[in-house]
Amino acid sequence: MPTTLRVGPVTRIEGHLDIEVTVDLVNGRQQVVAAKSSGTMFRGFELILKGRNPLDAPHLTQRICGVCPTSHGMASSLVLEAAMKITPTANGRILRNLVLGADFLQSHILHFYHLAALDYVNTTGLLEKSPWVPRYVTPDMIGGSVAANLVNHYVQALDIRRKAHRMGAIFGGRMPCSSSFVPGGCTTTVTSTQVSDFKSLLTEITAFINNVYLPDARALEQAFISYRDVGKGCSNLLAYGVFDQDTAGTQKLLKRGRYTNGANTATLAPTSITEDVKYSYYSSASGLTPASGATTPLVDKTGAYSWIKAPRYERTVHEVGPLARMWVNGDYRRGISAMDRIMARALETQKIAQAMATWVGQLTVGGATQATRTIAATGTGIGWTEAPRGAVGHWVRITNSLIDQYQVLSPTGWNASPRDDLGQPGAIEQALIGTPVADLNQPVELLRVVHSFDPCLACSVHLARPGERARKVVVTA
Ligand code: NI
Repeated sequence: MPTTLRVGPVTRIEGHLDIEVTVDLVNGRQQVVAAKSSGTMFRGFELILKGRNPLDAPHLTQRICGVCPTSHGMASSLVLEAAMKITPTANGRILRNLVLGADFLQSHILHFYHLAALDYVNTTGLLEKSPWVPRYVTPDMIGGSVAANLVNHYVQALDIRRKAHRMGAIFGGRMPCSSSFVPGGCTTTVTSTQVSDFKSLLTEITAFINNVYLPDARALEQAFISYRDVGKGCSNLLAYGVFDQDTAGTQKLLKRGRYTNGANTATLAPTSITEDVKYSYYSSASGLTPASGATTPLVDKTGAYSWIKAPRYERTVHEVGPLARMWVNGDYRRGISAMDRIMARALETQKIAQAMATWVGQLTVGGATQATRTIAATGTGIGWTEAPRGAVGHWVRITNSLIDQYQVLSPTGWNASPRDDLGQPGAIEQALIGTPVADLNQPVELLRVVHSFDPCLACSVHLARPGERARKVVVTA
């Protein structure tokens, strides 16, 4: 007898996501046979940006999300550089990498300890206060001294994250929402004191990654090795690439590319990205590229179930995130699953920390940190980078020196999308199908799959009424 389960809102993610699944007995095993992922809020930043001074974009788009602001700051700086034909200074490029790197480190540590690990650990007797209760407790969870150790590291990770934010703020001005990102570089200066302060914090954070985070992730993988077979999903991966290592942006620490139907491809064509809206609350046309994208909300649209659009590459569903980046870069090829997402994220954290140690040594004390810029009368551009949880793209068109059109395509748009016009379920929806559910009253397995993507709904959608599913909202430019 099929049973419908709804987990909404999913906790320990950024923003508001509802998951609805149908569970049935297949070959003697109770498992998910259908899934719906719904973003229950509207974002609308595209409408806010229209008619603004282009230089507002790095500041305003960082307010899309408190978890990925640095990535939006980077994407909006890159998109304006493309539209206004500005090349960042070497110092400016490196500074932005260091600030974004600091954000990746804190975000990946946050994901492992504070968002994902609690799906696997029985914290009974260890965390008995709000917000850790009520919670699911299932027989397969890690207990005893291993659980106590992980809870200690959970607390330690809070302090390490604080230090990562402090490190980013040295050159970012503040964290989150760096005030220093601009097209052409970074508004901060470089002093030897800043460099040594940054190095000192990075050394401490790197030691935590190497000696605590990675061993804990490996221990979790061994305890839940069966999760290498859960949450496989579409098995297509896409990465815009991030951390430019040269001024032209052609060399990246984590390369651009995709893995589609079993084949690796090193290039991406912007025109191959389209967004369907058949099942999204929008009246704008379906299948538009973000460059010509439109965001016209329609609250009561028949058949729609999400405020997230359905981005596709060549009309094919792709997953984005650390596993996609590490796969495309050739650094991780073990497999695609809920546990592989956790392991690729941990290994990427180590790789980025190592690279940051090199970059900080490449800064020129007292050197120029930003290029001169004039606001172009007209121009178009694409700014592709990565957030900790996957590919972020900004598209702009400037007319009369003002923003005429702006579109943001966030990682959770790719991962948590609803069905597209062809009826193909999104990446998380596909990953949920086949997930075993042992206890219908405690479907923790669903959370393990959803959390492995580290969804950020604030980036994808934005506006709600408390206590209701998304309803009538009027946004005017
Ligand atoms: Ni976000």
